[in-house]
Amino acid sequence: MADIRRFELLDSTNDEARRLARTGAEDGLWVVAEGQTQGRGRHGRGWISPANGNLYCSCVVHLHPQEQPTQHFSFVAVLALYDVLKAYVPDVQVKWPNDLVVKGHKISGILLERADLKSGPLIVGIGVNLAAHPDKTVYPATNMKALTGHAPHPYEVLTELAARFNHWRSRWRAEGFEMLRQAWLTVADGLGSRIVARLPQESVVGIFTGLADDGALMLLLDTGDVRLIHAADIFGI
Ligand code: BTN
Repeated sequence: MADIRRFELLDSTNDEARRLARTGAEDGLWVVAEGQTQGRGRHGRGWISPANGNLYCSCVVHLHPQEQPTQHFSFVAVLALYDVLKAYVPDVQVKWPNDLVVKGHKISGILLERADLKSGPLIVGIGVNLAAHPDKTVYPATNMKALTGHAPHPYEVLTELAARFNHWRSRWRAEGFEMLRQAWLTVADGLGSRIVARLPQESVVGIFTGLADDGALMLLLDTGDVRLIHAADIFGI
């Protein structure tokens, strides 16, 4: 059974996991809150987190020596979450790098942070729109209740997630990134289609052809060159 610490309200489950990691929390400890006052998303965005039945949780990960590079953890986390959500919403897909989408609408997000600047435990933060989703987001969003008529309890989803997280983590350690890459590509949204990657200073258009060894998105440009995208917002066109 996973070690899960439950809270009514936190600033951010990532912050609480970080505090616990700094004071000796074990590998695999999960923190979950009913609501967050300072939920964070990728690219410095906020993650709107009222106590509304959505899942807000974070895991403390002490990386094993063979769990490198750290960014591959993104794929471990999203494949674990994919397994859980797929049982409720069969047409869920992964979207680079670690979102889950249903017909192009975002249903969950994952934020990887270090407990300390460049070293120390990894904090894997996961938010899932089980009962509601915010409006006016960068990507159109959806939630499980709207899709299926039922929102599972966040703790039930977290218990399943913790088990699948361990499963994919062990497989990654035993089999390496190629296994993760193939599993991810099999369920990826937009593979082989034309997309735009919006970076801070430019937008790059191309065909999404795969994942590079470091997890970067591979874009085949009209010039025939392949451009590797390491951080961007991705949209279909
Ligand atoms: C994204 O931008 O897609 C990532 C969103 C991650 C949100 C989760 S909610 C639980 C954890 N605590 C946070 O403050 N953020 C993550």
